[in-house]
Amino acid sequence: MTDRSEADTVAYTVADRIAWVKFNRPEKRNCMSPKLNRRMKQVLEELEFRDDVGVLVLTGEGSAWTAGMDLQEYFRETEAQGLGAIRKSQRESYGWFERLRWYEKPTIAMINGWCFGGGYGPLFGCDIAIAADDAQFGLSEINWGILPGGGASKVAQELMPFRKAMYHAMMGETLSGKQAEAQGLITEAVPADQLHTRVVEIAHVLLKKDPHALRATKWTMRRVGDMTYDNALEYQIRAQEALHSFGGAAARKEATKQFLDEKTFKPGLSTFDATKVKG
Ligand code: ACO
Repeated sequence: MTDRSEADTVAYTVADRIAWVKFNRPEKRNCMSPKLNRRMKQVLEELEFRDDVGVLVLTGEGSAWTAGMDLQEYFRETEAQGLGAIRKSQRESYGWFERLRWYEKPTIAMINGWCFGGGYGPLFGCDIAIAADDAQFGLSEINWGILPGGGASKVAQELMPFRKAMYHAMMGETLSGKQAEAQGLITEAVPADQLHTRVVEIAHVLLKKDPHALRATKWTMRRVGDMTYDNALEYQIRAQEALHSFGGAAARKEATKQFLDEKTFKPGLSTFDATKVKG
């Protein structure tokens, strides 16, 4: 096919409060070109504050989630234009990875196939990662003479046991979904024919939670990683208090009432009914 327009490099639909965002270059195994990176940032921003979106799922069209950065358009063509173009492209890709890490809504990576190199940026950016058993993950950089940059080595080092991460980065072999799950790179792997159902199931659980508490929770989980224990405690006190500006006090009061007085739910086992929060 002829080259896709920038707008067509990412596809999305919204249904039942779930935004389904797709890498949409299946003929190029969804590798990330400068056009795709620009479009993805726009799409994420368009969806972030929509009232009809409660959860965002990032997946891929065709046989790949993403085959990493586009060796032709992101590397070869950009490098031919010099340092300014290189930095611009890097900022465009790292920019949307960063947006995803700190997204206002919960995010799920639904990894349907190949996931290589630069794809580890958005993989880490998503809060929960569910893959098909037969998806394939690889830090293939070493196979073509570069190091796993663009955050990829940091992601492997952060998520995987060190010995596994080092082997993964140095050997350039792929891991199946099941192996990626066992090594901590993803949350869970399921048979391919159950992937969509499992992701919808998780999305529906998330949709029932208080969205402000959920946002504060995902951010604190990311923030505390490089904090001392005392700084983490302090950050969490402030973040919890900040929730009060978004109805947190009322939500907590209602949830406590439902448990202690009405005995309609047990926090250890399910979520309170947030539709009853007043004010
Ligand atoms: N960059 C540019 N083009 C790519 C990329 C990529 N990362 N991945 C796939 N393509 C293109 C192929 O060149 C091919 O284009 P063509 O039809 O014009 O020849 C098309 O996508 C289909 O690719 P095939 O290799 O034919 O697909 P296949 O299903 O057999 O293999 C696989 C898929 C394993 C993903 C293979 O394409 C591949 O190894 N891609 C590169 C993966 C990689 O190492 N990515 C870079 C990681 S490092 C980083 O991101 C910084």
